Amino acid sequence: QQKFYAEKYRPQFHFSPEKMWMNDPNGMVYYDGEYHLFYQHYPDDNVWGPMHWGHAISRDLVHWQHQPVALYPDSLGMIFSGSAVVDWKNTSGLGSANKPPLVAIYTIHNREDEEAGRNDFQSQGVAYSQDKGRTWIKYANNPVLKNPGIRDFRDPKVTWFADSEKWIMTLAVQDRVEFYSSPNLIDWTKESEFGSSLGAHGGVWECPDLFEMKVKGSDENVWVLLVSINPGGPNGGSATQYFLGDFDGSEFTTEQSETKWLDYGRDNYAGVTWSDIPEADGRRLFIGWMSNWSYATAVPTEKWRSATTIPRELILEKVNNEYVLTSVPVTELEIIRDEGIELPSQVVSGQIQLETANIEPMRSEMKFSFQLKNDSQNDGPEEFGIVLKNNRGEDFKIGYLSTESMFYTDRSNGGLDSFSDNFAGKHSAEYRAGETMEIHLFIDEASVEVFVDGGLLVFTDIVFPTEPYNKVELFAKNGSMKLQKCEVWSLKSIWEP
Ligand code: FRU
Repeated sequence: QQKFYAEKYRPQFHFSPEKMWMNDPNGMVYYDGEYHLFYQHYPDDNVWGPMHWGHAISRDLVHWQHQPVALYPDSLGMIFSGSAVVDWKNTSGLGSANKPPLVAIYTIHNREDEEAGRNDFQSQGVAYSQDKGRTWIKYANNPVLKNPGIRDFRDPKVTWFADSEKWIMTLAVQDRVEFYSSPNLIDWTKESEFGSSLGAHGGVWECPDLFEMKVKGSDENVWVLLVSINPGGPNGGSATQYFLGDFDGSEFTTEQSETKWLDYGRDNYAGVTWSDIPEADGRRLFIGWMSNWSYATAVPTEKWRSATTIPRELILEKVNNEYVLTSVPVTELEIIRDEGIELPSQVVSGQIQLETANIEPMRSEMKFSFQLKNDSQNDGPEEFGIVLKNNRGEDFKIGYLSTESMFYTDRSNGGLDSFSDNFAGKHSAEYRAGETMEIHLFIDEASVEVFVDGGLLVFTDIVFPTEPYNKVELFAKNGSMKLQKCEVWSLKSIWEP
């Protein structure tokens, strides 16, 4: 397969910056047939530094066109994470009635104030575009929301709340989320606080998102609050939790007592959803930063650092009386399927190597359906899974341990890991398998994304094999199972002209 951007570990179907540093995705908004993706970017080095908003545009959510840097640091400070909306009614007055402006709301981070020991160095600012996001003008009277004296006061995610005809800003404030409202994106009033005594608190709260969803297959509506947290994730470092409840335009309430996680891998952070997806589409589209602050600045790439996850649709499901926010790859990704094969169904016991013909596992999509109990005599294997291997003895394992009801991914022997003490390891989540299990994999040059049973459970992990994985093995220990269906596709590079 031909590679575009042929550097080692350069993702071929994930978005990555052309060069230098990237972290959080920012300001995702859909307008006039275009998906915008902005991102935390330092164009002068491959580690974190003075933050800018990088920019890319896609017409299909899959192929991206790099754009010039959208927002540069200014005399007020650096440009931290935030969101963007279409101001359809020109409530801000920053466009005109027949040409709604795109408005970005972001955190201004003033390093000098921080270094001088002040606590109010983060505030919220606004910028707008009158030319479909191509150029951006900073609002003249920034900041629009001043800091009351709290060190962590950032990552505004703004959405239109139709019932009260107001904009709602969801802001991460230290160990909680605060909600603000505004008629015009400029004047903000504090409404309420949520979360200081709920959910996970192993680290600071960051990059929240708030939206309403219909429960799949019902008329019930639930409000979802995403909150990223660093550190304190279920498998270490950065991760994203979520709360399900109700929002009345002023307060978020929930009956949820347990902590829920969007992803159990180590590499899906600071993800939020697209604004202004047309109602006729109706999907909630999400993308995350495919890295982890535990090692992001040390990963073994030089020209650029880090990528986004594949775009996903979030779907709220009720399973066994429990609500689960599931993630599935967007169907648009099917356009990069190249050659595909379906493997014959077969019984697996012990270890077998899959005959994937000339499809290289390294840039592929694989869909497995397993029948775990293959007859009345057999309770299914105690442990089973999929192993990606190379000729150097390195591997990436995906497995299920039924004796412990535990699903895991394991990159302890995945390849390069000496760049950080926090990288190698096994990641797990408690999970109760039924009689069947579906595992859907997306494997790029340096990542594996695992969607179990239609996204009820997700693991996103980066990995750096010193040579491409070129074999796929299945194993079943102490018992057998049936591989009922297995489809494998090689995927085209999204950068292919
Ligand atoms: C999350 C984060 C945000 C902040 C940005 C700075 O990864 O720490 O809270 O706005 O990165 O780059």
